[in-house]
Parts: sequence; C-alpha cells; structure tokens
Amino acid sequence: MSEIEGGPATIRAAVLDRPGVPTQIEVLELDAPGPEELRVRMLASGVCHSDLHVRDGEWERAGPIVLGHEGAGIVEELGPDVGQQHPGLRPGGLVALAWLTPCGRCRACRAGTLWLCSASPSYTHRMPSGRAAIHRPDGSDVLTYSAIGTFAERQNVPAAAAIPLDPATPPEVAALIGCCVTTGVGAMTKTAEVKPGSSAVVIGLGGVGLSCVMGAALAGARTIVAVDRIDAKLELARSLGATDTILAGEDDAATLVAILDLTDGGPDVCAEAIGLPRTIELAIASLPTGGTAVLVGMTPFGLRASFEAFPFVDGGRRILGSNYGSAIPAVDFPRYAELHLAGRLPADRLVTNRIGLDGLEDAFAAMRRGEGVRSMIRFD
Ligand SMILES: NC(=O)c1ccc[n+]([C@@H]2O[C@H](COP(=O)([O-])OP(=O)(O)OC[C@H]3O[C@@H](n4cnc5c(N)ncnc54)[C@H](O)[C@@H]3O)[C@@H](O)[C@H]2O)c1
Ligand SMILES: [Zn+2]
Ligand SMILES: [Zn+2]
Repeated sequence: MSEIEGGPATIRAAVLDRPGVPTQIEVLELDAPGPEELRVRMLASGVCHSDLHVRDGEWERAGPIVLGHEGAGIVEELGPDVGQQHPGLRPGGLVALAWLTPCGRCRACRAGTLWLCSASPSYTHRMPSGRAAIHRPDGSDVLTYSAIGTFAERQNVPAAAAIPLDPATPPEVAALIGCCVTTGVGAMTKTAEVKPGSSAVVIGLGGVGLSCVMGAALAGARTIVAVDRIDAKLELARSLGATDTILAGEDDAATLVAILDLTDGGPDVCAEAIGLPRTIELAIASLPTGGTAVLVGMTPFGLRASFEAFPFVDGGRRILGSNYGSAIPAVDFPRYAELHLAGRLPADRLVTNRIGLDGLEDAFAAMRRGEGVRSMIRFD
C-alpha cells in the first residue's frame, strides 16, 4: 500500500459494481482529502443488514460503490481548513463515522432533528463538494456508501461525519456505535422514550434488535421480551438485559399470544428490528391501549404493511418510524462510548465473528441464514 503523507493513496476496498451481484475486492486510487474532508485509516467495520439490502438489490443504489457504513478508524490527514472548522479532529485521533452527515441548512437540520436531514451528502454517496474521492485505475469514479464506504482500508469522509471518541473506546465498539448501537439504543431511549418500570418487546435480534434490548435495559424497562427465530440469539438477548424470550416459529398468531401473555396484554413499546411486513404487523397487533410500535427494521423498497384502523384509533395507539435512533451523532456517539466504558452498554458482545475484507460475501451469506450477530471486519 502506498502511504504518501498528504498525497493520493492506493487502497483495497469491497466494491459493489451494481445491485444484485457479489462484491469484489478491488485496488482503487484514493485522492488527497479536499475541503470539508478528512482521511481515515479504518480499524474496524461491522457488517449491517443495510449493506446486505443494497448488495441484494432490495434498495436500488447506483454503482460502482464501496459498501460499509458502520466503521471507526484513526484520522490520518485533515483536508484544507478542516482543523479550524472542527477543532476536535486531529491526526491520530479515534473517530466513529456517522452514516448520516447533517447538511446543517435544511428544514429538519434547522429544527434540530438532524437524523431527518433531507439534503445530506450521505444520500449522494459523494463528498460534500459533490466529488467522488476514489477511482478505479482507469480513472472512473467509485461512490462510497453514505459518503463513508467503510469496507475499505482507508477512506476520505466528510469532516462532519467523523466523531471523535475517547481513545480508550475499543475500535469494534466505536464501529458499532456508527450504526447498530446508535440505531437500536436510540430507538428505545430517544424515539420511543421507554419509561422506567415499563414493558418492551423487541422482534428480531440482530445487531440492531439486540441494541434495542440494551436500550430498553438502559431506560429501566421492567419487562423486556426478546423475539427471534434463532435460539442462540435469545441467550445473547438475556445476557444483554432481556427478562423473557420467545422462539418465533412460522405461526405469527402463536408468537402474538406468547407476547400478550408475557406483557400483561401487550407491551408499552414494541420494536420491530427486521424489516418484514409480517413482523411489522405483529408489532402493531401486540399493542395494548396507548401502546407504541417503533419501526426500526427497513423493508425492501415498495412494500406495505397494514393494520385494523378502528381499534388503533380508538385505543390511542402509535406507530413511530425511527431513523438512526433519532441521533445527534456529535452528542450521542461520545455518550454511548462513555456508557460502554462505564460497563453499562456491553456492545462488544454483539461481535460474533472477526473477518478480513475478503470474508465479506461469506458474512453476507451467514446473515441471510440468520447466523451470528455482527461480523466485524478488522483492518489490523
Ligand atoms: N432504522 C434505521 O435507522 C436502521 C439502521 C440500521 C439498520 N436498519 C435495519 O434494521 C434491520 C435489522 O438489521 P440487522 O443488521 O440487525 O439485521 P440482522 O439480519 O443481523 O438481524 C435480523 C434478525 O431478525 C431475525 N428474524 C428474521 N426473520 C424473523 C422472523 N420472521 N421472526 C423473528 N425473527 C426473525 C433474524 O434471525 C436476525 O436475528 C435491517 O432491515 C436494517 O436495514 C435500520
Ligand atoms: Zn447499518
Ligand atoms: Zn439537513
């Protein structure tokens, strides 16, 4: 690898040429960081189901693109003026990368709801200037997923996407804070505002759902019911704070009865962390009067879910969509890192498999089967 300080570099990265085909490891050229950019040497990147949605063509995305959006690394070099604009960022510092960089100017950003930003460079998969910072040897542009493309040894990212963390934070935990921890913990504590002493159900126990379990525990829920179709996930959920578990089979009506039994007629909050219409409908059907369904899982584009309207309205039930755990990354990332370091957010237990970049397609295959929780790509 070339490591010319201040100049372009050669990197290895997992590139999706177009939706629906396997990713390939390619050698690419990375430009020197421009204005509003910095260069990160990646330490760790988790494999999230959102990468798999893109890989499998369930969400249409232009390619070629370097996937990966749950990463952390070391700042190598700041673009021009970035040091003045972001005094917390310095070469050598540990950063977690946010997959939604607020533009700071749109209506949602002006209202302080940064997780709803509608003009983020993250949605263009390009740097804030509009350029792509990496290229194939023939000079053609390669995009970077959510403008961070963490399945790469090095990457230029928007300076505002790089959130400095306490250097004591383990890199794998820092990476997980970049997506699943922030998404799940925030869905329960910030979006749904789970109350101490209340009851919560989490359907789907991947990295996102298990983070919902940790969030419900942090919020002081008294009953936390964890639901998955894979037995091993239930044990892990118990170690993260679940008080009860349900092994879901094909019969959703039976799962519903089990949920109602364990929650005295339905949970105050039911989180869906898979992204299937049938489990979204199950979450809504489980609600008692006044209950809240918080939808965290992302379906393939174009799908619908339905519910019976009269009891929903009559019973004052609520459905909340939760994007990125209602996160303000600059505030919430360091907070989640501190909670981990204080022993209150054991996110490290989500890592069930450590791989190199070349293990990505196997990790996707395991995720399709529901095996393991987070596969973690290590770059060291
Ligand atoms: N809202 C957000 O901001 C946000 C952020 C990140 C990820 N996501 C989405 O969250 C979802 C979960 O992501 P993940 O990485 O945790 O995925 P994952 O594949 O690791 O986990 C999904 C879990 O659901 C279980 N499951 C599947 N079908 C089931 C069923 N019928 N009944 C019970 N359990 C079932 C699987 O066994 C697995 O444990 C994805 O759709 C992802 O795109 C949303
Ligand atoms: Zn993710
Ligand atoms: Zn915005």
